[in-house]
Amino acid sequence: MIKQAIIPLAGLGTRLLPLTSVFAKELLPINGKPGIEYILDECIEAGIKEVIFIISEKKKMIKKYFYNDSFYKKILKKKKDSRISKEYKKILKYKKLIKFVYQNKPLGTGDAVLKTKKYIKDNFFLMLLPDDLIIKKNCSKSMIRIHNLYKSSVMASMKVDKKSVSRWGIYKLDKKIDKNNYFIKDVIEKPSIKTAPSNKAVIGRYILPKKIFSKLSKQKPGKGGEIHITDSIQSLIKDNKKFIAHNFSGKYLDCGSMSGYIKSTLEIAKI
Ligand code: UTP
Repeated sequence: MIKQAIIPLAGLGTRLLPLTSVFAKELLPINGKPGIEYILDECIEAGIKEVIFIISEKKKMIKKYFYNDSFYKKILKKKKDSRISKEYKKILKYKKLIKFVYQNKPLGTGDAVLKTKKYIKDNFFLMLLPDDLIIKKNCSKSMIRIHNLYKSSVMASMKVDKKSVSRWGIYKLDKKIDKNNYFIKDVIEKPSIKTAPSNKAVIGRYILPKKIFSKLSKQKPGKGGEIHITDSIQSLIKDNKKFIAHNFSGKYLDCGSMSGYIKSTLEIAKI
């Protein structure tokens, strides 16, 4: 069973400047609700019991958002407002689930994941990248189902335009399991159109094995001098650890870029 999820939140969010110069991008509203709440709802609905947030001193406002009890209590004492009371209860429900760890230097996603090492209890855990919203169908839930069937690692996959492969992590696929699931032979970061082994891209949902931590602790910095989670995943695949690419059926929204963030708000407003 997958009971723990981790969410890296310690990045700088430069693609959303100037919004992120003083504000954490994960708290930016998408149709009146902070982006991170969509991610937490996905976790809760998928049966996750503990969520580990990797934050930094710079992004402490994320913790404050969930730990603002005295503020809410004062307001609710002054005015009996059922909407505020309901929102506060919702925040309390999230708070019970969340644990915080710190990555004060943004050395890369792999380094962020490594910070959770001592808190992971089971052999597998879920990781969600908060820039990637998947709506209409719970992607984590369907990935957990695949994990339970094959007892292997699972990563979310989506077909992208062939011309855009150089923007993504691209799968080299192995044996087909069924229409929506394939074993993975390799993952190639941002290949050129000519060298891309497919047009199936990695999207920010991963079921990873605890073994990834021993890879990460030895992982050398890769592209851009950062420690990338993908490099350790590649190394596990080379050791014959099974990884499945899962074609999810929900709708993907990219909230990490300015144009994507604006589009996400419009898309969610439609449903
Ligand atoms: P990205 O590199 O895509 O996003 O990291 P970013 O750094 O937040 O934003 P840009 O690229 O400057 O606009 C993917 C995810 O990993 C987290 C980020 O917070 C994001 O959720 N991350 C990244 C960390 O937690 N630590 C890091 O060192 C790097």
